[in-house]
Amino acid sequence: MNELEKMVLNEGSVLDNGVLKVDHFINHQVDPTLMEEIAKDFASVFQNKGITKVLTIESSGIAPALMTAKELNVPLIILKKQPSKVLYQDLFQTVVSSFTKETSYELTMAKNLLTEEDHVLIIDDFLAYGEAAAGAVRLIHMSHATVAGAGILIEKTFQGGRDKLKELGVMVYSQVRIEKMEKGNIVLAKERI
Ligand code: G4P
Repeated sequence: MNELEKMVLNEGSVLDNGVLKVDHFINHQVDPTLMEEIAKDFASVFQNKGITKVLTIESSGIAPALMTAKELNVPLIILKKQPSKVLYQDLFQTVVSSFTKETSYELTMAKNLLTEEDHVLIIDDFLAYGEAAAGAVRLIHMSHATVAGAGILIEKTFQGGRDKLKELGVMVYSQVRIEKMEKGNIVLAKERI
């Protein structure tokens, strides 16, 4: 069992609305040592894949994605969800609907960040329905770059995000795969892929 799996089982809690709360080590308070381990694991999986850039979606993906970019010695791109006064022109945008948060937003990236030479690794904290990651894939394809894969901290296998990405030809590697969760009970999938 890896460190993140232990943390999820020991410290994670499942809320009434079916959301896994990991606020004090991933997405509100961040554990830097855990992030470093997570990044080393992603780097070991993706290091020979010719990755030129790591890409994530603000905000909770930033910490693990930055550490992974450092391990792979490549830049990090952070996709924006809010309209920005600084990013005012030459943008790629795509609408993403979030089932978990019941909102939608325009995922945005400046056109000059990727070229057809780039091979991009997507890193994100959660894979639920795969809408955010699929939006990231659309933006990467708009810039004619290619997708090396998606590295996910926590995948909820029962929400189908992996299949959505597979349909887009994207290989997914998750450090924690949850096949079932309810209050007081988190069940990990046997296979970690
Ligand atoms: P999808 O992208 O896989 O389709 O997932 P969905 O739209 O349903 O959910 C997107 C948002 O909800 C993401 O945050 C994701 O991290 C978060 N999320 C999904 N499931 C869980 C969960 O079980 N626990 C927690 N804590 N978060 C979950 P976001 O809107 O991108 O916000 P941010 O936290 O990155 O700023």
